[in-house]
Amino acid sequence: MPVGIDDISFYTTNFSLDLQELAANNGSDAAKYTVGIGQERMSVPGADEDVVTMAANASMALIDGMSARGEDPQAITTILFATETGIDQSKAAGVYLHSLLKLGPRCRVVELKQACYSATAALLLATAWVARKPKEKVLVIASDIARYERQSPGEATQGCGAVAMIVSANPRLIELDPETGIHTEDVMDFWRPNYRSTALVDGKYSTKVYLRSVRAAWQDFQHQSDLTFGDFDYFCYHLPFSRMAQKAHNHLANGNAHKLNAKALDQQISASLMYNRITGNSYTAAMYIGLVSLLDNTSADLAGKRIGFFSYGSGSVGEFFTGTLVKGYQNMLHQQAHQTMLDARQPLNYADYQKMYAFEVPTDGGDHVFEQQTNGKFRLTGISQHKRLYQVR
Ligand code: COA
Repeated sequence: MPVGIDDISFYTTNFSLDLQELAANNGSDAAKYTVGIGQERMSVPGADEDVVTMAANASMALIDGMSARGEDPQAITTILFATETGIDQSKAAGVYLHSLLKLGPRCRVVELKQACYSATAALLLATAWVARKPKEKVLVIASDIARYERQSPGEATQGCGAVAMIVSANPRLIELDPETGIHTEDVMDFWRPNYRSTALVDGKYSTKVYLRSVRAAWQDFQHQSDLTFGDFDYFCYHLPFSRMAQKAHNHLANGNAHKLNAKALDQQISASLMYNRITGNSYTAAMYIGLVSLLDNTSADLAGKRIGFFSYGSGSVGEFFTGTLVKGYQNMLHQQAHQTMLDARQPLNYADYQKMYAFEVPTDGGDHVFEQQTNGKFRLTGISQHKRLYQVR
């Protein structure tokens, strides 16, 4: 029985900063951003957005889709919420989401963490659960806000977004294979201690560890599966910035006796980079927004095509896995809604970006009402006695 992704949708906030505007104000050459790291814009969250509101906005398209097709959303009996922008050390962000989506009480909810990798653990754990309970569906969430110190090299690689996926038996989008390649090693390339709101990163080292991880995970994959590099039509990589995927793909290709020229190699990843170039890094969600980007921005019928995925989370865990697109997958896409959302984003000037960056959720235990900034259906209206308050608009 095939198991995999039945539906997928993503959300990003409705403000963005053009990296030319950042470059003009921090003395960098804009080409370093647009060419060197391959980024044009980054999404910026308003004060009334967090990982829960982003996740709820990403999920709504899936829930509405189920209802429109006469399917019961109560078949979702598990929510796996992957994030490294946790809002609470104890309560899972997914429990707030469960309430906002009005799912039934017979639904287990848990949060997963391992830097940008944990959504992949969530997805693969979901497939294992569905293989055991084929009538049940799992809602997998990846939701993050990538935040680095101002004036640091990482500042241009910020961004935010969320992806929601329904994992089911007989999926209508992608069937996932059980064989995967895994590589874990204890390194300090990127981390965020509990007392910090920004990540600590050894940026150049992190790119080296990423490349080491992709090679090692691929080597393990070769021991687990008979598939070779030539069996793949497209690749989706973790996307801290789009140039990283180009480097990783060339690195993987160079280690394999492939017959593709540079243009053909580029065609295997270029559509997956389009949304990342204009939304920026979204940690756990980044590779999956890459998958949505590939599907939304490729007009050819990809049914039967095989995609290779490399998921990387600093610290570090890397996993290579694979899936095949199902005939008729186009019926499940939300391309128009994604485009409308991206087109509606409001560009920020540098002063407004600085102001929005400076906002932090108050920690004094008082009652605080947040300014309405988002146009999303769900918003964080404030905080009262350390309790976050959400609203469906
Ligand atoms: N025109 C074109 N390219 C330019 C340029 C210009 N004017 N100026 C610089 N570049 C190129 C550099 O040659 C380099 O390319 P290369 O990597 O192929 O050598 C690239 O732009 C980046 O320049 P660099 O000087 O290395 O940038 P940086 O010191 O600001 O650091 C990161 C870049 C990615 C390390 C930094 O943004 C970062 O720390 N990001 C967060 C961590 C991260 O995303 N890690 C990824 C793994 S998860």
